[in-house]
Amino acid sequence: MSVHKEYKRVTTHALKDMKLRGEKIAMLTAYDYSLAKIVDDGGIDVILVGDSASNVMAGHETTLPITLDEMIYHAASVVRAVKRCLVVVDLPFGTYQGNSKLALSSAIRIMKETGAHAVKMEGGKEIRESVERILTAGIPVMGHLGLTPQSIYKFGTYTVRAKEVEEAENLKMDAQLLSDMGCFSVVLEKIPAKLAQEVAESIDIPVIGIGAGGGVDGQVLVLHDMIGLTHEFKPRFLRQYLNLYEDIKGAVSHYVSDVKEKDFPSTKEQY
Ligand code: KIV
Repeated sequence: MSVHKEYKRVTTHALKDMKLRGEKIAMLTAYDYSLAKIVDDGGIDVILVGDSASNVMAGHETTLPITLDEMIYHAASVVRAVKRCLVVVDLPFGTYQGNSKLALSSAIRIMKETGAHAVKMEGGKEIRESVERILTAGIPVMGHLGLTPQSIYKFGTYTVRAKEVEEAENLKMDAQLLSDMGCFSVVLEKIPAKLAQEVAESIDIPVIGIGAGGGVDGQVLVLHDMIGLTHEFKPRFLRQYLNLYEDIKGAVSHYVSDVKEKDFPSTKEQY
């Protein structure tokens, strides 16, 4: 029996309701108006304006360089396109760690200047004060544990996290802490499926996984990866639904040849 329910607008409460009813949550990233419109019309529950924009939009090697102003530009473009889904925006590196006043002012800028509905932050107990201050201001917070790309220089690699007992235990405690503090959801990235399922079953808030198996409450992918705009990044957890890299490259080659061959424009395509 289908557990799908129609929501006119997806809210943080709707996500909790989905978890309670056993309906899986579908989340994708988007960073611009045109693709956000298609993703929202396609029925997505949550758009994440991820700091992965640093990689796929700006071509940086990591998520660290993207600025708050750049995230605000992307998020405002997405919000203008969206009619139904919840829009969550990543607080970028350097705008919330270690200083809860700065964290709150960063989150307030995102909410005021973009019209987004929530922010996402990477980390557990080490960012506790920042999370608490933002929540106290009435701003919904999504957590992010496991592989947290803003800490890539601490980890050294993008391999699976929390395979060892100590890291897995810390992750479980952090997930519980985020839930107890009042975060509305948490992303678990690239951790063993068994651990992710255990976390999803032990906390009340929805757990959204990326590379964390099917036992969690929802899934997120980077849009550019799942539609094949990026073509060199193929981790095991990625299901690619289109190959737009090849399709667009083919269309460009076709256009170039039409222009060179004086086939475009035709008499019908001029005034
Ligand atoms: O920035 C991002 O796209 C993310 C997802 C991978 C969860 O944080």
